[in-house]
Amino acid sequence: MNLRSLHKTSAIVVAAFACLHLANHLVSLSGVPAHIAFMESARHIYRQPVVETLLLSCVAFQVGSGLWLVLRGWRQRRGAVAWLQALSGFVIAGFLLIHVGAVLYARGVLDLDTNFYFSSAGFHVWPFPLFFVPYYFLAVLALFTHIGCAFFWRMQPASLRARRWVLALPMLVGTVISSLLVLSLAGKIQPVEVPAKYKATYTGFFTSAP
Ligand code: HEM
Repeated sequence: MNLRSLHKTSAIVVAAFACLHLANHLVSLSGVPAHIAFMESARHIYRQPVVETLLLSCVAFQVGSGLWLVLRGWRQRRGAVAWLQALSGFVIAGFLLIHVGAVLYARGVLDLDTNFYFSSAGFHVWPFPLFFVPYYFLAVLALFTHIGCAFFWRMQPASLRARRWVLALPMLVGTVISSLLVLSLAGKIQPVEVPAKYKATYTGFFTSAP
């Protein structure tokens, strides 16, 4: 098995978790308690030591192998879709490094329950929304774009028109899902009252909560 095949195989594990994870975040549209209840059930699966070790190893491998593949093929890369695939891969890699690092730090060092409020806090302390709105929006959009690019190459014998559709459709779905998740985290869809201990992780920087 070469590096590209291993990258695709570990992508299946990361994508399976991402489906469960994004479904969990979409549940927040019907209220934060529903989101937290869903997460507590889902954690019985992905927080099992064997599952979590496999997931975090696949995430680490995905980021490392993805960056290596982009850099290795830099000079051969031709055309808009090839560049879109590389760019979305870069965004996902950067996001995963920050995101998983932050989750593990909050859990292990700050002793926080990394539930909805953990992600939402950054949307409720100015000026951090300037970072968190594009951060979450672009990460989810990049994930769907990257998957669309993979479909585009897989459909190789089909017409260019059909292949453009299998790329555009996930991007469209990604835009809708990203927008809903960001609006939900910002408390624009349902009421969100972030507990002070989550906001406190930001207020110490250079501002106080609004
Ligand atoms: C709006 C988008 C997202 C939000 C708000 C978000 C939020 C969170 C939260 C709150 C946790 C902690 C979960 C827990 O404690 O059980 C978490 C963990 C994690 N997230 Fe995300 N996430 C988002 C998107 C993504 C995406 C697109 C990926 C890519 C696959 C991802 C990968 C992970 C991973 C690998 C973990 C660590 C799981 C663990 O070991 O506990 N997240 N995220």
